Amino acid sequence: MLREAFEYLTTPCPPLARRYGYLAEMVALGARHRRQRRAWAPHVEACRRFVLEAAERAPRGGRALVAGSGLLIEVPLPALAERFGEVLLIDMLHSRSVRQQARRHPNVRLLTLDVTGALAPLDAALPDGSPLPSPSPPELPGERFAFALSCNLLSQLPLLPLDAIDRKAPNRPEAERERFAQALARSHRTWLSSVAEQATLFTDTESLWLEGGAILEREDSLWGLDLPPPDRGWDWDIAPAPEEDRRRSLRHRVGAWFNLAAPTGT
Ligand SMILES: C[S@@+](CC[C@H](N)C(=O)[O-])C[C@H]1O[C@@H](n2cnc3c(N)ncnc32)[C@H](O)[C@@H]1O
Repeated sequence: MLREAFEYLTTPCPPLARRYGYLAEMVALGARHRRQRRAWAPHVEACRRFVLEAAERAPRGGRALVAGSGLLIEVPLPALAERFGEVLLIDMLHSRSVRQQARRHPNVRLLTLDVTGALAPLDAALPDGSPLPSPSPPELPGERFAFALSCNLLSQLPLLPLDAIDRKAPNRPEAERERFAQALARSHRTWLSSVAEQATLFTDTESLWLEGGAILEREDSLWGLDLPPPDRGWDWDIAPAPEEDRRRSLRHRVGAWFNLAAPTGT
C-alpha cells in the first residue's frame, strides 16, 4: 500500500493521463504482478518468447517500436536493444523503473504518447456534448520502423476513455460509445500496419470467468475487430480467486500475430 502510494505520488505523468486514470492503472498493474507473480509466470514467459521469435523475423538493425510498453513485464528489452539500431518505447507514461531500465541501453528512447490520439479531443468533447471524436493516431518522425510491437494494448485502448464517458457524460447513447470503442481498436490495427514493415501484436482476445474449473461467463475483448486466426495463443490466469472475486477466477485468452501488415498474417 505504501509502495503504491509512493509510486502514485512520484511517477512523472502528463496531467491528462493522470486524470483519466492511466497512472493509477499502471501502479495497480505493478502491484497485481507482484501479488500474482507465480500465476502470471507462464503468461510472461509466453509473451517474451513470442516477442523474441517475432523480433528474429525482422532484419537486424533498423528501428523498432513497442506500443504499450507499460512496466516492461512482457517485453525482453535487452534482447530488443541488442537486435535493433533503435528501440522506441511508447506509453501514456513511463515509470521510474522503466526509465532506469531504458538508461542501460543507449539506443532505447521513451516516448510519452497517446497512440490513439483520441484522449485530448475526447476531453474537449465531453463537457459540451459534441460528438465523440474519431481516433487520430500520431505520425512518428524519422525512418520507417522495421518492427512495431503492440504489447497487450489493443483490448485496453477503449477502457479508460469509456470510463470517462460513463462518469462525465452518462447519457451518451450506447451505440455511440460502442462505435467510438470499435474505432479505437480498428484504427490501432491500421496504424500499427502503416508504421512498420512488420506489425506484431498480442492482446487478450477473450475474458473467461471460472469456478471450480467450469466456465461461467465468457466475453470477447476485441471490440468487434476481425482478425485472422492468431499465430500463437495461450491462457493468462490474470486474477485467480480471490484476487477479484472470492470464488471466481478470471482468465484471459491471449492471441499473438507475427505480422498483421502482411496479407496472410504470417
Ligand atoms: C496491459 S498494460 C501492458 C503491459 C506491458 N506490455 C508490460 O509489459 O508491462 C497496457 C499498457 O497500455 C498503455 N496504454 C493504454 N492506452 C494507451 C494509449 N492510448 N496510448 C499509449 N499507451 C496506452 C497503458 O498505460 C499500459 O501501460
